[in-house]
Amino acid sequence: MSQDPYRWDERVDTWEEVAESEAFLALRDRVVALADPRPDDQAVDLGAGTGLLALALAPAVAEVVAVDVSARMLERLDTRAAADGIRNLHTVEADLRHLPLEDESATLVVSNYAFHHLDDAGKELALSEARRVLRPGGRLVVCDMMFSLSLERRDRRLVLEKVVAMLKRGPAGVLRILKNAGRVVAGRWEQPARPETWEQMLVARGFENVRVELLEHEAAIAVARRPELPAANGARERGVRAASSGS
Ligand SMILES: C[S@@+](CC[C@H](N)C(=O)[O-])C[C@H]1O[C@@H](n2cnc3c(N)ncnc32)[C@H](O)[C@@H]1O
Repeated sequence: MSQDPYRWDERVDTWEEVAESEAFLALRDRVVALADPRPDDQAVDLGAGTGLLALALAPAVAEVVAVDVSARMLERLDTRAAADGIRNLHTVEADLRHLPLEDESATLVVSNYAFHHLDDAGKELALSEARRVLRPGGRLVVCDMMFSLSLERRDRRLVLEKVVAMLKRGPAGVLRILKNAGRVVAGRWEQPARPETWEQMLVARGFENVRVELLEHEAAIAVARRPELPAANGARERGVRAASSGS
């Protein structure tokens, strides 16, 4: 757990409550709709937590691999999967930046609210890993907080909404604002990236059909896919296969 500065092992129950909220169930439904799961999909859920996405996908696909850095989160996910009679879900304890999964072993990679725990370099590493494990033509659907503390209009509105919501909680909210401000100054705040940064990172990592769907609050969903092999390569590969089978 040394790679987990947020100590997720200690936050399983509190996170499960958040994940069961109406807002997160709506996010789950939108991610699943955009993922368009198919019976032959080999799916991977990055930062799966207690299984918000993985458990929803499992009945609709061939297999789900749920990856998370927290052993306790994955224990809870295993328990829930067993209680639901789900047998095609496997948990893997690992960091998203170094996935212990084979090249081109997945057709669908999804994630919800995990990437803002990585800095931008970490996000890029994790996206490179996602691309590596996806087969050509494989789909990626990532939901996350997508904004920054900039003066851009959407960013300003989101930060103001958060501050107002916290102020409404009275002294506890004011304390929270001060704590968050301290974390920002100390560089320990969560690290969401703006939708534009997401688009740039995905294009730079070699994804295509990149688009980001903005939701009305802080969240947004990035959708992309790993390009199919170019036709010439496909033909060349077929040629190589034909040549080697004839030798
Ligand atoms: C906010 S929770 C979201 C969980 C789940 N996706 C959901 O929507 O309910 C973030 C999860 O990401 C995991 N996580 C954070 N950083 C990670 C990393 N570097 N590698 C793997 N998992 C990570 C945490 O352990 C936690 O379970």
